[in-house]
Amino acid sequence: MEYRGYDSAGIAVVGREECRAIKTKGKVSELEKNVYSQNISANLGIGHTRWATHGEPSVTNAHPHSNKEQTLFIIHNGIIENYSTLKNNLINEGYTFVSETDTEVLAHLIDYYLKLKNNLFQAVRYALNEVEGTYGLAVIYKEEPDKIIAARKGSPLVIGIGKNENFIASDVNALIVHTSQVVYLEDGEIAEIYKDHFHAKTIHDEEIIKEIHKVDMNVDEITKGGYPHYMLKEIMEQPDSIFNSMRGRLLYEEGISKLGGLQGYEDRIVRSQRIIISACGTSWHAGLVGEYMLEEYAGIPVEVEYASEFRYRHPIIRPEDTVIFISQSGETADTLASLKEAKKKGALCLGVCNVVGSSIARESNAGVYIHAGPEIGVASTKAFTSQLVVLSLITLLLARKKNLSLIEGQNIIREMQSLPEKVKKILESNDQIEKIADEYMSCRNFLYLGRGYNFPVALEGALKLKEISYIHAEGYPAAEMKHGPIALIDENMPVVFIATKDAVYDKVISNIEEVKARKGRILAIVNEDDDYIEKLVDHVIRVPKTINMLQPILSVIPLQLLAYHVAVKRGLNVDQPRNLAKSVTVE
Ligand code: G6P
Repeated sequence: MEYRGYDSAGIAVVGREECRAIKTKGKVSELEKNVYSQNISANLGIGHTRWATHGEPSVTNAHPHSNKEQTLFIIHNGIIENYSTLKNNLINEGYTFVSETDTEVLAHLIDYYLKLKNNLFQAVRYALNEVEGTYGLAVIYKEEPDKIIAARKGSPLVIGIGKNENFIASDVNALIVHTSQVVYLEDGEIAEIYKDHFHAKTIHDEEIIKEIHKVDMNVDEITKGGYPHYMLKEIMEQPDSIFNSMRGRLLYEEGISKLGGLQGYEDRIVRSQRIIISACGTSWHAGLVGEYMLEEYAGIPVEVEYASEFRYRHPIIRPEDTVIFISQSGETADTLASLKEAKKKGALCLGVCNVVGSSIARESNAGVYIHAGPEIGVASTKAFTSQLVVLSLITLLLARKKNLSLIEGQNIIREMQSLPEKVKKILESNDQIEKIADEYMSCRNFLYLGRGYNFPVALEGALKLKEISYIHAEGYPAAEMKHGPIALIDENMPVVFIATKDAVYDKVISNIEEVKARKGRILAIVNEDDDYIEKLVDHVIRVPKTINMLQPILSVIPLQLLAYHVAVKRGLNVDQPRNLAKSVTVE
């Protein structure tokens, strides 16, 4: 679970002789040392790795939190929005607080009800009825040492069913080394988990029957497979992940794609007045490419929204709209909240997710999995290219149902099918890109410029560099540069141009000349047959040619590798960059 946050970590155990918590600041490896240096004997425990929201990373603020007597422990993801009201009420009841977290309020509130009800399940249930906000939580208690109580609202929680042992986690990835049988808790549900059985209720005390799902995932998929970092492994996996995203989904004879997850909804999507795409981070960049594709080929107006803004700015959403939510994890709180908002307003909601069974995948009316396989490096790489593949598949489907001819459809399919081989070729430039990284690793700022389909690639390239190398980088539409960023250009400012041969190629060359005239250092991503740009710029990295709508899938890969090598050369933790988390399950 460490990819969710890694500023502090802790565990708590309950057994016949033991009942205690061990917490450390920093990564799980620090906690591990601390735990292994002690003798612990217990039959049940909970653990947490934190991404700070309320209160700085410290041992005191780390989870688990407990009641005063240290007999009850809780771990919690999410945010308790009414925590200050609850805290004041508890202070009036005589409770004292040691941490700055919102979670500690829950520990004392459950303790309060435990003293009234004398039953952990009921105490948690009563406490949660007073809580506003989001939670995925687990609670253990010394006097009931045979169970974990788990509850969910807004933050994911999965129960893993083992043999004479059961588990809970906030991501199935964490469970698959133990079991492939899982149960997804839904919002407003609370479960009592023993080693050999569990039962669930709603927080209003209604009984519910939960279905057991089988997770089809291989343990090898979550190891580094001999690579020094997950990020490099995931970049290198792209020929396969891209292939997997389209496997079985292209019908060449008919020149169309087949997307089982959209069956029954195709006509409604085609008839949409407009398509809105809502996402965050890298997924938002994929959405921008999607906008270009869908407008060009399917002729449906598209708007791309930051999920965090979309929810709160009172957007006009109509039942004739289709909203596509793109999320690798399927758990990003902002995206999930915007999905709930769009659903409430009656729009057709489609999920484009990687994690099977994730909240966004389950909450949407329909959707398409990207099947990229688990992505663990915090900086998203293979999920991005697979999101673009799926957006191409959706575009092809809608365009063929509108005006796109069979021949044009088949051309797109041929180009899509050739992508894995082309990606392999780009990955062969890894050594060359590593050498280029040597030349740029000490720069303090970067500008990434592209036009048309390559503009979102410029944004994504800049984001990759920022995220893992902590170098300030900005992505801009190449032509917009002259309206501001050009003032930054001098001999110390590297500019990365994505300059593949498309409809705006000549225009991009003019922009390159403008940078050159101001002595900027230029690195350009160009097509294999381009012998012009290399004469103008300091470095080129070549990528094979494909049709414009698919070019971002190829041109982003050198930028992923560049960011990776720069970060490694700067001695940084590529897989766990500071302050970030892979999946941000708080708003
Ligand atoms: C976090 C990650 C980003 C990611 C974004 C959206 O900020 O650090 O890498 O792009 O969330 O994540 P999602 O899982 O919704 O695609």
